[in-house]
Amino acid sequence: MKSLKYCFHPSIISRIPSCILSANRRYLATDQNASTKTEANNTTEAQAEIGPSAPELQVNNLTGDYQHVFEIALNRAERRNALGKQLLSQLDATLDSIKDNNAIRCVLFRSMVPNVFCAGADLKERLTMPQEEVGPFVSKIKEIFSKIFGLSVPTIVALDGLALGGGLELALACDIRIAAHTAKLGLTETKLGIIPGAGGTQRLPRLIGVAKAKELIYTGRILDGQQAYEFRLVNEVVKQNAQSDAAYQRSLEIAREIAQQGPLAVRMAKQAINKGSEVDLQTGLDVEEGCYDTVLTSEDRIEGLKAFQEKRKPIYKGV
Ligand code: COA
Repeated sequence: MKSLKYCFHPSIISRIPSCILSANRRYLATDQNASTKTEANNTTEAQAEIGPSAPELQVNNLTGDYQHVFEIALNRAERRNALGKQLLSQLDATLDSIKDNNAIRCVLFRSMVPNVFCAGADLKERLTMPQEEVGPFVSKIKEIFSKIFGLSVPTIVALDGLALGGGLELALACDIRIAAHTAKLGLTETKLGIIPGAGGTQRLPRLIGVAKAKELIYTGRILDGQQAYEFRLVNEVVKQNAQSDAAYQRSLEIAREIAQQGPLAVRMAKQAINKGSEVDLQTGLDVEEGCYDTVLTSEDRIEGLKAFQEKRKPIYKGV
């Protein structure tokens, strides 16, 4: 398994809220579990970063083979990554800070908490929230997930553990979902007397079809990774490994593959698919044409043709 060095890109570090960053952060990607010893020189530092005092959201601009991949990691172990106010505001600020960054070609969501992606809404916080605040708060979560959906670059989510309620709604806002076979996925809101309120009732049927979505939402059923794959809820299911990060490792490979393609082309493809899938076919074809016009006049298109002619790898700039 490859180990990765993490560091922050200078163009990003200035725009990420300081509460999300911690000083001198560098750790090994494969050292997810705070109790796991590695041979790396910076093991102590890694452990310090993943402990209870670490930020609830960690962001990393990957380097080396994974250049141009930006990672957003949930890290709130004591509440199983439940979506509390603080974590959500950090996520919101992060999304705002990266949305116009052309150096990013793929965003990967993951968890630093073993066997958990996200336990959904913070039910303890919700219990103490005055009723009049709940509606606007849920709307805000929906808005944040729509920002994820609206990111111009592809998004991948690694589901190495449970993703329930809002946790699965976050995953539904991503373009590609990879699950470990041990993952537990469900929109379980009806068990709590509520309904999915952060896009789940809309995104799930669009993804897997109305009848299947109704079945899952009415029953609040929890699927394992294989069942989720059979429901077409996830793109791929992978066998979990000893480090409990098989979905993450597979997601990284897909992110790397995406990051090597023409970045403007990939963004236009996403736009054409996202906008086109919500309209009638003729309008969708017009959307595609508009997106094609953008790539037609790009430097990347000429670079792609030249590289083919010269039998070399293209060097894309995203313009
Ligand atoms: N909100 C707030 N706190 C949560 C939480 C949530 N959604 N999910 C888990 N936690 C907290 C627990 O209260 C517990 O805190 P405590 O140690 O102070 O009691 C801690 O995280 C660990 O949870 P625990 O239940 O002991 O761990 P587990 O591994 O046995 O089970 C879950 C994990 C996620 C399966 C279980 O906690 C659960 O069902 N949570 C609710 C998930 C849910 O219904 N989400 C949908 C919301 S719409």
